[in-house]
Amino acid sequence: MPLVDDSGTTLLHHNPPSTKNNKIEESNLFIFSDTMTMNTVDTHHKPVLTVLNGTPLTPPPIWMMRQAGRYLPEYRTLRAKAKTFLDFCLDPPLAAEATLQPVQRFDLDAAILFSDILVIPHALGQTVDFVEHEGPKLSPITDGDHITGLAPHHVIERLQPVFATLRMVTPNLPPKVALFGFCGAPWTVASYMIAGKSTPDQAPLRHLAYTNRPLLLSLIDLITEISIEYLCAQIESGADVVQIFESFSAAVPPELFAICSLNPIKRIVDAVKQRHPDTKTIPYIRGNPYYTLRFAEERIGDAIGIDWMTPLDFILPKMPRMASQGNLDPLTLLAGGQALDDAADRILTQTRTRPHIFNLGHGILPQTPISHVEQLITRVRRS
Ligand code: CP3
Repeated sequence: MPLVDDSGTTLLHHNPPSTKNNKIEESNLFIFSDTMTMNTVDTHHKPVLTVLNGTPLTPPPIWMMRQAGRYLPEYRTLRAKAKTFLDFCLDPPLAAEATLQPVQRFDLDAAILFSDILVIPHALGQTVDFVEHEGPKLSPITDGDHITGLAPHHVIERLQPVFATLRMVTPNLPPKVALFGFCGAPWTVASYMIAGKSTPDQAPLRHLAYTNRPLLLSLIDLITEISIEYLCAQIESGADVVQIFESFSAAVPPELFAICSLNPIKRIVDAVKQRHPDTKTIPYIRGNPYYTLRFAEERIGDAIGIDWMTPLDFILPKMPRMASQGNLDPLTLLAGGQALDDAADRILTQTRTRPHIFNLGHGILPQTPISHVEQLITRVRRS
């Protein structure tokens, strides 16, 4: 499907494409004029932004973390066009199409930039590979020379394809759909850079904290500064909201929480807000409800992204003036049926009178049936 930049006539799949043969059909293309571009869209008609401004909506807006991914046949077809996953992320026409696929198929209120948190280490000059069935593999950082050997001054230049992707997506979004940009939180990104892979408890990073604290702090600082520039460039390219993924909160030792997680994320949020006061920010904290609470108490961001492990009756009373997002266990989406309906209803009931964005508490699993995603969206829309 040809996508055009925001200078040309825009092509938009406004209705869900036929999935009979797992292909997007030309008949589903709607042609919109230039007047539909981002610049002329009243952002207040985006339900996600209404909620992030503090107004509860019934039904709540809905999108799903990892909504672009292997559970979609059209994603698998697109993915096959790129040699490596990083090539895919850094090819603007392919990444723009992957970003749009879920909003073309489902009635969703947000699209999220198709990319990965590990484009930052890649742009810094670390070797990053995504090995099938194994996950990310990086050349691990083991000493200070590795850090001084990184190339922070070229990061924004090397990430130009990400910004081009956003510029290709914006004119092709239905007006009500908010566009999310994102980055990984410094602790989460650092854990990959130090370990060179996913680790269950981030032992290599924690070990570094006890053997070479200055090295750890200089890495956290570097990622924090780059993330500020990276998110601001995403916003300047069309992102309405930016989400900061602290996926590895579970293994932040208490003595490191403030210096390695809370303060760096606060610094990112504050710097982004200062330069772009209208843009919304959402820290997503996974794995430690107490740390989620700390972010809520300090009111870091416009909403807190809540994982599926955090009980809503624990966290919501502690964030009376702040919006929330997430919490549905992705395993309920995999299970479908009554379990999914019950889990969705529980969240809908608990969040009914507050500004909440319906979402999962972590990403969609690749084995998730599409019919379960449809079931969930229908249930939320009818609430
Ligand atoms: O739809 C979306 O949510 C946008 C795209 C997105 C991806 N990764 C695409 C992706 C986003 C927001 C991410 C964030 C990300 N990446 C996180 C934070 C969120 C979380 O999951 O906790 C983390 C920790 C990563 C690192 C990462 N990237 C891992 C561990 C893996 C391998 C796991 C897997 O599912 O294979 C990836 C690869 C990845 N990132 C895939 C996708 C769609 C799958 C690779 C493929 O399609 O070949």
